[in-house]
Amino acid sequence: MSAPSQPASSMKALILAGGKGTRLRPLTYAMAKQLVPVANKPILHYAMDGLYQAGIRDFGVIISPETGKDIEESLTGWLKPDTRITYILQDEPAGLAHAVKIAQPYLGHDDFIMYLGDNLINADLGSHIADFKQAGYHASILLKQVPNPSAFGVAELDAGGQVLRLVEKPKVPKSDLALVGVYLFTASIFEAIAKIQPSWRGELEITDAIQQLIDDQRTVHSRVHAGWWLDTGKKDDLLAANTVVLGEYAQAVIHGSADADCQFSGAVQVAAGAVLKNVRVTGPAIIGEGCTLENVTIGPFTSVGAGCRLMDCHLENSVVLEECVIEGIPGKIEQSLLGKGCRITKSSHRQQSHKYMLADHSEVEVF
Ligand code: DAU
Repeated sequence: MSAPSQPASSMKALILAGGKGTRLRPLTYAMAKQLVPVANKPILHYAMDGLYQAGIRDFGVIISPETGKDIEESLTGWLKPDTRITYILQDEPAGLAHAVKIAQPYLGHDDFIMYLGDNLINADLGSHIADFKQAGYHASILLKQVPNPSAFGVAELDAGGQVLRLVEKPKVPKSDLALVGVYLFTASIFEAIAKIQPSWRGELEITDAIQQLIDDQRTVHSRVHAGWWLDTGKKDDLLAANTVVLGEYAQAVIHGSADADCQFSGAVQVAAGAVLKNVRVTGPAIIGEGCTLENVTIGPFTSVGAGCRLMDCHLENSVVLEECVIEGIPGKIEQSLLGKGCRITKSSHRQQSHKYMLADHSEVEVF
């Protein structure tokens, strides 16, 4: 075993925040999928925090022409005094391996950790990096058992746990072990990428590049991830992620103002500048900065973004982005995902009718 040549702190991270978010439409018509908030924090910031905690200070971030500006703006808010971020523009989403290829001038010959900016993982990246450095692998991947492996890259292992084969989104998966979006690479990945061709979906796949490393007799280590790994691709996935993350991170802290009629139970986090009157909140739940809530019941697993106004309503198991208005709604709103600035209000007309203005791909369930 060779001694670590490079401490984690000097290792670079490559974060992929480009691509086109089609699965979370209509939300991702207006925002990058990596910036969709979970428990009022953009998904991408969880990745940055995890890497920072593992000692990484030098970040390369892949961005797309469509959403790059928003990603930069959001990460400017995240930046810490001892970190450096280099933005790398990828003209089109030509694949994860393509993103690595165009990042070569930034990465140089150093080992690096690659992190998909839409993945939410509770992993001890520091120990993962330390093992990789110490063992001198050419690449190391994280795997997780999933019920729907065909939606991911899939690993086939031998009886001893060695990676035999990796296939991207196989129709007939050989195992239920999906590739998680965290990878450790040496510069040997660039030679592998140079040898592969675009896949059936027209992308240079990182899964194929890692398979190429295996074919070239390089050591590809795998570790089955024990913690949670959340896909945020679809509405229900995002709500599930919100549930898990709130359950893990929400704290009982009230920074805003709450009148004597308010009742809080469990981990209820109310940000500064929020004003609550006659509000019952069951945690875990989070209310963002500057919200106004009056005569409202908030159930568990609910995130309300900054600047929302909620009056005479009941909300549960939901994610509401910034600047929404919900007023005078009878019954319970649950399992709902509202994009920025949505309004749900009671009609002043007497007849029993509904009025909608919905963006493309919106979903409404009524009963
Ligand atoms: O989430 C894990 C899965 O991620 C793995 O199991 C698969 O093996 C891997 O190929 C990848 O699959 P997806 O099809 O889900 O990748 P997606 O297109 O969603 O892109 C992942 C992230 O990388 C996302 O933040 C967008 C960004 N990206 C994507 C492409 C294709 C880029 O920055 N550039 C790109 O060209």
